[in-house]
Amino acid sequence: MYRTNTCGELRMTDVSKEVTLAGWVQTIRKFGAITFVDLRDRYGITQLLFGEQLNKELEENPPGREFVLQVTGVVSERSNKNPNLSTGDIEINVHSFKILNKSAVPPFTIQDDTDGGDDLRMKYRFLDLRRNAVKKNMELRYAVNRAARNYLHQHGFMDIETPFLIKSTPEGARDFVVPSRMNPGQFYALPQSPQTFKQLLMVSGYDRYYQVVKCFRDEDLRADRQPEFTQIDCEMSFVEQEDIIDMFEGMVKHIFKEVKGIDYTAKVERMTWEEAMWNYGNDKPDIRFGMQLLNLKKPSSVYTSKKDQPGLINGAGFKVFDDAETVLAIAVPGCSEYSRKQTDELTEWVKRPQIGMKGLVFIKCNADGSYKSSADKFYNEEKLKAIAIAANAKAGDLLLVLAGVEERTRKAISELRLEMAERLGLRKANEFKLLWVLDFPLFEYDEEGNRWVARHHPFTSPKPEQIATMINNNPVIDNAADYLKHPYANIKANAYDIVLNGNEIGGGSIRIYQRELQERMFAALGMDKEEQQHKFGFLLGAFEYGAPPHGGIAFGFDRLCAILGGSESIRDFIAFPKNNAGRDVMLDAPSSIDKKQWEELQIKPNLK
Ligand code: AMO
Repeated sequence: MYRTNTCGELRMTDVSKEVTLAGWVQTIRKFGAITFVDLRDRYGITQLLFGEQLNKELEENPPGREFVLQVTGVVSERSNKNPNLSTGDIEINVHSFKILNKSAVPPFTIQDDTDGGDDLRMKYRFLDLRRNAVKKNMELRYAVNRAARNYLHQHGFMDIETPFLIKSTPEGARDFVVPSRMNPGQFYALPQSPQTFKQLLMVSGYDRYYQVVKCFRDEDLRADRQPEFTQIDCEMSFVEQEDIIDMFEGMVKHIFKEVKGIDYTAKVERMTWEEAMWNYGNDKPDIRFGMQLLNLKKPSSVYTSKKDQPGLINGAGFKVFDDAETVLAIAVPGCSEYSRKQTDELTEWVKRPQIGMKGLVFIKCNADGSYKSSADKFYNEEKLKAIAIAANAKAGDLLLVLAGVEERTRKAISELRLEMAERLGLRKANEFKLLWVLDFPLFEYDEEGNRWVARHHPFTSPKPEQIATMINNNPVIDNAADYLKHPYANIKANAYDIVLNGNEIGGGSIRIYQRELQERMFAALGMDKEEQQHKFGFLLGAFEYGAPPHGGIAFGFDRLCAILGGSESIRDFIAFPKNNAGRDVMLDAPSSIDKKQWEELQIKPNLK
């Protein structure tokens, strides 16, 4: 037997028992004739005491850091207790030991505060995974997985696997493709999601399906994106949007309870996509804090609201505002006393290429009721006050105003809002707020390709009352710049996203389930009959054999874990992640293949 106990298990109640432990050497400390070793395994750390009688053996066979060690000894009370360790009251008085395997000196310390940089830790990920901090993330991931599965099982969902070697599924990214030796010149695509399969399973009658499944997308990577990631993918038959919302709100609440011990009893807020864009500047707002946007100009785009405040800044001769398509403001709480240095720094912040604004205008709403602004020359106190009131600013707040073209300005102010909240400590990792964003647009216009694309995916149904608008209007636009005037721009989808603390953790829709409507949708996206048949003939065909009404949702499992674990980076919650360039630096993949493989696949490398 290699061990009787784990390194996290023994307590005062075990004193005087003889035990055998096996694990890795974390530290070795020598005090005269006595040697202390901290032995670590997945469950914890136990202190070992090697007395004088073992000195000779230790000298002949010295263990080093990360050696795999087996020891037998007696559990004893420690004279010098360590309250930070669960095993800190005891130690093992070792009477024999065996080195099960040696270790090279690890390239970084296996500790919470490791000295290893990101790249090194990724290269030696198997060592990084030994660290407590990473292990905790893996444990949390497993807990989320278990909680989701239990909930879904309790609600009659069936886990059904779907293939990885398939034909393209459009989720808006590029496909990873796999050549086929048996079908030279032809390629499989790896699924961007199991979307079409789960819909086919509904046609097959498996009315509650789920899968914790890998998805593959060749897209630009960010902290919350990996080329292969995991979804909790779900689909249900005979449901409406409200049924899906109910079921999966329940799942997330169950996960909160099981994993974090949080009773999420508050009502989950809801807002339409338009409200989100209007009030927060993006479709996944963090609603843990206010700082809603105020629009000071008549909007030129689809985002319209009763809160629109055109007249306030007009006619003052301030070119920055007069020439701008959009002027947007946020009231940052308690920052009216920002120094010149601080406002200059913020101006530089919005000028960074990632944000891309030309400048920043501010209005200080001083505690004494006076107002001061960088645009004082154009606006008197009365005007400044009116703007401040419209933006919901209170005495002591700092109003930040950005002006420019619509999309960029809206995006920039939304980033600025998050940045200010971060600086003010309003984005707390242990505070969780869920939100449903509803009524997404069905289409988006791709100005480059001069065509409509599905905002979610082409299987999403339009709002029933807008089906006629989709069917009766020609999708073609003469002047791409006028796309917002096209009736398609206003068609809303039966689609929903679930947002947690400003992160999209899931999204789904009620699907189209009649062949004719699906064909119309494909046609609206510019696909002729032949292309439809070539790409989606299997689905259109299946819809002829009694497809039930259905809908579903998929959660970004890695993202959900990261947020619950208080991190924005999903890499920390994936055992073997890729780096920002999509590489596995441990395996050194992707890599070239040898000549024989090229030949077998009958592909010629296109090397310049
Ligand atoms: P969608 O494309 O919105 O929907 O994906 C669902 C969720 O998956 C997560 N996600 C990602 N996580 C990590 N890395 C990525 N590259 C990545 N891309 C997406 C997000 C997202 O909310 N088939 C549909 C679902 C449906 O309609 O049922 C789909 O895949 O958290």
